[in-house]
Amino acid sequence: MPGLLLGDTFPNFEADTTIGKIKFHDFLGDSWGILFSHPRDFTPVCTTELARAAKLSKEFEKRNVKMIALSIDSVEDHKAWSKDVMAYSCEPDRPLPYPIIADDKRELSVQLGMLDPDERDQQGMPLTARCVFVVDPHKKLKLSILYPATTGRNFDELLRVIDSLQLTAQKKVATPVDWKPGDKVMVIPTLSEAEAAKLFTNGVTTKEVPSGKTYLRFTQP
Ligand code: BEZ
Repeated sequence: MPGLLLGDTFPNFEADTTIGKIKFHDFLGDSWGILFSHPRDFTPVCTTELARAAKLSKEFEKRNVKMIALSIDSVEDHKAWSKDVMAYSCEPDRPLPYPIIADDKRELSVQLGMLDPDERDQQGMPLTARCVFVVDPHKKLKLSILYPATTGRNFDELLRVIDSLQLTAQKKVATPVDWKPGDKVMVIPTLSEAEAAKLFTNGVTTKEVPSGKTYLRFTQP
């Protein structure tokens, strides 16, 4: 079965979570969404990731992105683990600011292609990898990344990517290497010079290159 492709409508799955049963599309409403999966509750790297995600939750909120985590344990385990996460985050009195999906039967992990065959539990069952899915307000998959269980993600990078996705959804631009909000962006190659001049009233500068081609066009969005 082919996995989810960018641009696909994200499945409207039903799941038990720490805030009760949800249907994914209803949970998202008109917001963007980020779903991030974890190998297991009460594991070290996952705990650092969930704590960082909690610390950055206001930043996701500012960008109108609803957060939801997933791990292959029960709601009861997730609730107990959430307390450890918030204690690790040095905010022991604050509840975890996003729900966690309980995928203890691994059904969703299989459906969404999230299992890591190289990492197994004591019973030899595969654990979930560190997947990230970003979904736009039309429920289309805009970003998918997959890290192995042994490599924690960078949640600042996820915010940076969301800034790029949201900007490029609005304007005919692309963000170059190491781009940060406020930096110059690039005019997409399919836009003619005349169209670019009309759209980008801040001006377009073209970097000269040996080929003489004029594809390196920068503008301030
Ligand atoms: C962790 O979260 O620390 C972890 C989980 C599974 C395999 C390796 C590391």
